[in-house]
Amino acid sequence: MIIAIDGPAASGKGTLGKRLAHHYGFRHLDTGVIYRAVAQALLEAGAALTDEAAAVAAAMELDPEKFGNPVLKTQSVGDAASVVSAIPEVRKALVDFQRQFAAGPPGAVLDGRDIGTVICPDADVKIFVVADPKVRAHRRTLEARARGEAADEALVLADILKRDERDKNRATAPLRQADDAHVLDNSRLDIEGGVRAAIAIIERVR
Ligand code: C5P
Repeated sequence: MIIAIDGPAASGKGTLGKRLAHHYGFRHLDTGVIYRAVAQALLEAGAALTDEAAAVAAAMELDPEKFGNPVLKTQSVGDAASVVSAIPEVRKALVDFQRQFAAGPPGAVLDGRDIGTVICPDADVKIFVVADPKVRAHRRTLEARARGEAADEALVLADILKRDERDKNRATAPLRQADDAHVLDNSRLDIEGGVRAAIAIIERVR
């Protein structure tokens, strides 16, 4: 079974994905971390985020062992990720890794922007998570502060909106709700409420 979760920045997809994977005993892949890792490799090498050859090389040399690096969580790396993720060749280089992850037993939860539309169009369940931008900015600000980063909520909101625009308007695999996706509005739900709502959707359609 494959559960595809998509949605805009800071909508709660990652936490939901992790919790659902735990609930069902499935593996979980936060696909945003892949694009973040590519962006971080370019930043570390001092390469431009628009350097296609360097970005594709970084995508092909990706080391999943490094996905836990805390720097990948930062706002600036997320922003850089949304620039490199718009390069079609970078996306292409990462498709097989994601599909192989999705296909393995006993089942998988993948979250990102194009899981239900491009990576796993035949996923058993597709959930499109949305939440009020102000709520998303508030949550992201608290998370950043908990990590010890200075975060200004208005700037976080502006960054989230800018990133959503970039992700929705790129030519390749834009952020889009799949026709057969179920919308889950996370604005007024806490983590437990979001998990319960998602399980209700999954149990209804699987
Ligand atoms: O979800 P997260 O904020 O970690 O994603 C960082 C960036 O990676 C997104 O803004 C988006 O540009 C890109 N991304 C993507 N496709 C995915 C997951 C993330 O383009 N499946």
